Amino acid sequence: MSLPFMSAAEAAQLVHNGDVVGMGGFTPAGAPKEVPTAIAHMAQAMHERGEEFKIGIYTGASTGDSCDGELARAQAISFRSPYQSSKDMRTELNAQHIHYFDMHLSELAQNLRYGFLPRPTVAIVEACIVNERGEIVPTAGVGIIPTICRLADRIIVELNEAMPPVMRGIHDIYEPADPPMRREIPVYHVGDRIGTDCVRVDPKKIVAVVRTNRPNEVGKFTPSDETTEKIGANVAQFLENEMHAGRIPKQFLPIQSGVGNIANAVLGALGENKHIPPFTMYTEVIQDSVVGLMKEGRVTFASGCSLTIGAELLQDIIDHMDFFRSRIVLRPQEISNNPEVARRLGLITINTALEADIFGNINSTHVCGTKMMNGIGGSGDFTRNAYISIFTTPSTAKGGAISSIVPMVSHLDHSEHSVKVLITEQGIADLRGKSPIQRAHTIIDNCVAPEYKEMMRAYLASAKTAHTPHNLSLALAMHEEFLRSGDMRNTKF
Ligand code: COA
Repeated sequence: MSLPFMSAAEAAQLVHNGDVVGMGGFTPAGAPKEVPTAIAHMAQAMHERGEEFKIGIYTGASTGDSCDGELARAQAISFRSPYQSSKDMRTELNAQHIHYFDMHLSELAQNLRYGFLPRPTVAIVEACIVNERGEIVPTAGVGIIPTICRLADRIIVELNEAMPPVMRGIHDIYEPADPPMRREIPVYHVGDRIGTDCVRVDPKKIVAVVRTNRPNEVGKFTPSDETTEKIGANVAQFLENEMHAGRIPKQFLPIQSGVGNIANAVLGALGENKHIPPFTMYTEVIQDSVVGLMKEGRVTFASGCSLTIGAELLQDIIDHMDFFRSRIVLRPQEISNNPEVARRLGLITINTALEADIFGNINSTHVCGTKMMNGIGGSGDFTRNAYISIFTTPSTAKGGAISSIVPMVSHLDHSEHSVKVLITEQGIADLRGKSPIQRAHTIIDNCVAPEYKEMMRAYLASAKTAHTPHNLSLALAMHEEFLRSGDMRNTKF
């Protein structure tokens, strides 16, 4: 049997109105590019002819503009899960044109297998190798590839020649059995390999192979500034202190680090702190800073779901595959983010909050409680099961017009029970073993920006004494003030 090579436009024709499509990859790393764009163009043409075309979409996490951006702009999506970070997709879902369900990333594959969500009928995956035996080797991101390939009737492969076959061996593909047959996931050390180096599918299901030559669409990080550097230094200081106090073992514990500019700066700071020994990572996305730290010997091993790094750095890894293949493993998100494994390995988790409240609750997703930013991603998978869970955030946003710390979060993603430490550029609030009022004083004293401290104390003073003191009619007054005047500093308590 020979592989069905064809153009992206021809492959797009194999996707029909009403299909449920699972995309491979994780973040823009390893996400398909040319077929989603071709589907978007086909959808536009059909809409112009007055024909209906909308598909449901699952991905590993976010994708690049050639997937989420193009499909959103073409109004080609009916529903979308579990995470996105596209400006145009965000506009569409906040307008309720797309039904978006934001999910813990580790849960998506099993929820598909359990039949909780509509079954994917089509899988579109990027590969560096595909052959007649039905072996598909992913590229820079794995995501939900094993599950969508198994569940879908039709598999479309983008064979990306920018991602050479030498990448084979970096992946560890493993799908757990479903209850009641599930056993432990046998990852006991970050580098343990428990699966295969490729996804194996029934070759008859491969209905199209499209040759492409496209770099990862991973954007550049904004260089760290004074605020992100201070946050990074505070995280490193906290962990150094924990180690000296004997609460983190001398050989250290694996780090999980979230997405975005702040997370990248925090990792850089951990790498620079020579009191912290060389460390390993069991994380979701392997970001730019990890590669440099690995070369310097500061990071000795990284397990992740994707190499979410710029094209030049990825080329560097490809050029030095012998060095990196023994130091990096890419797993499906069900394993990279697995709660059982996170708890067993004792992860130090560091994620970014959009907003925190004075009692230690975290909002990672909703601006002013209503507008979806990106999604919860893997932050819940890791936070709830961490050895120590840390949240970082700059103390203010939008030039000081927003305090990232408020009396009550306007949306809850991580509750006070899961959040152990809050860190801003102002300082560190260790919330372990503290009652709500003790947490409030610690957070106000250590983490809130100077211009908001008195406001927060006035709020507490206005609240009736109780286990968690709140003044319900004023709890969201700062948000209301921001929506009214554009500046929380105008709030009166
Ligand atoms: N209210 C409104 N807007 C806020 C805000 C708040 N309290 N706090 C931050 N923002 C805005 C910033 O101004 C910025 O806006 P801009 O893009 O218009 O400049 C934007 O949110 C992003 O903030 P930034 O400080 O650049 O942080 P980031 O790039 O590190 O992203 C999150 C922060 C929270 C959006 C991001 O980490 C996220 O999506 N987290 C959820 C998923 C997750 O944790 N994944 C990791 C799991 S492994």
